[in-house]
This record gives sequence, C-alpha cells and structure tokens, in this order.
Amino acid sequence: MIKAMIFDLDGVLVDTAKYHYLAWKRLAREWFDMEFTMEDNEQFKGVNRVACMEILCKAAGKTLDDAAFNEGMTLKNQWYVEMVQQMEKDEVLPGVRDYVQKQRDNGILCAIGSASKNCGLVLERTDLKELFDAVSDGTVVSRAKPDPEVFLYAAKMLGVAPEHCIVFEDAQAGIEAARAGGMRCCAIGQPDVLTGYDWIYPGLYAIDQLKEA
Ligand code: G6P
Ligand code: MG
Repeated sequence: MIKAMIFDLDGVLVDTAKYHYLAWKRLAREWFDMEFTMEDNEQFKGVNRVACMEILCKAAGKTLDDAAFNEGMTLKNQWYVEMVQQMEKDEVLPGVRDYVQKQRDNGILCAIGSASKNCGLVLERTDLKELFDAVSDGTVVSRAKPDPEVFLYAAKMLGVAPEHCIVFEDAQAGIEAARAGGMRCCAIGQPDVLTGYDWIYPGLYAIDQLKEA
C-alpha cells in the first residue's frame, strides 16, 4: 500500500539539473582544461557536492589538497547559486504542482529527499515548499546517494515505513538509494540511461496512475 511519496528535487521537481551541469562544466574547463559533457554529468546527478568534486578530480587525474578541494566546491556552488537566484517560477517542471497536490488530496504524505544543501533556496524561489509535509536534504543528512539515508530520514519524518514509500528519482544513484532503503522507485527520465526502477516516465506530467506493484 502506498502511504507516502518522496520526491528528489533537482531534475524531478525543478529544472535545476542544468544549472548543476553548467557550474561543474565551468569548473572542469577553468581548473582542469577539461571538456565536461552531458554524459559525464549523469554520474553527478543525485550525488552530493563532495562526492561530485571527488569524481571530477579523479577524472582530471588530480589530487588537490583540502584547501583547493574546498575552493573548487565553493566556486562551483557560487556559480550554481547565482543561476538559481535568477530562476523563474515556471522552472518548476511540467505537471509537478498538479501531481503532488492530487496525491495530497488522496491522503498520501509527500516529502522531498534531496542531497542538495541548496534545497531551501530552490524551494523558496519556486514556492513549492507548502506542497510538502517534510523536507530531508543535504543540510540534515550527510551520506551521499546511493546510501539510502536521505530517503530513510524522509520516511521517518513522515512516520511511514519504507515499504509504503515510493521514491521519484532522475538519477541512477538515487534509484539505487531507494532500493537500498527498501522503497520502490519511479524513475524520471529515459529507459536507456537508467536501470533498476519499478516504473519510468519522462516526467510527473506523464503519470496517470502508478499501479501497485
Ligand atoms: C542534487 C543534484 C546533484 C548535486 C547535489 C548536491 O542531488 O542532483 O547534482 O550535486 O544535489 O547539491 P548542492 O546544491 O548541495 O551542491
Ligand atoms: Mg535529481
């Protein structure tokens, strides 16, 4: 029985995945003279800032000391935040408000489960916060997806057991995190890019009714 839904933020509810991509791309170019493609970016989706920086350094074949490592992350975040501050409300992805509201009207609890420390800022820019009963994000959990911590914490905040939760995710690491937490997962994206999901749709706008699996 479905009692709760936990939504990833970037790439599921809002079109911010492109800003994360552009900010990492700029850092890769300016610091490592490296081309960073949309394909490279798949590994960065859903993964927290430290883990992304580690992946980038490894791909560049560089070992940075702590100060430089932190400086890289700070710069990337500065560029990302600059873009988010310019965001318009219509950057909420199609069908999101209606879909979440419909679930709430049917008595399903809804939470956010995001690795981002900028979750609060994005929710504020988009006026999405009041649609959710709980927010579990990078400011309250520390383990990066595919660790299930962020989703288990959301379920705990809602008071719902993992087997009654469905996670909505656009990232492979997030799909794995949902499964690791004993939750079913509805992937948002393309079937040739993602694996291990229970359902897949191009966006929340396309979901009519998730059938109980
Ligand atoms: C989300 C995004 C990732 C991003 C992570 C951390 O999970 O999908 O691409 O790296 O959040 O975001 P932050 O805003 O804290 O740097
Ligand atoms: Mg995402």
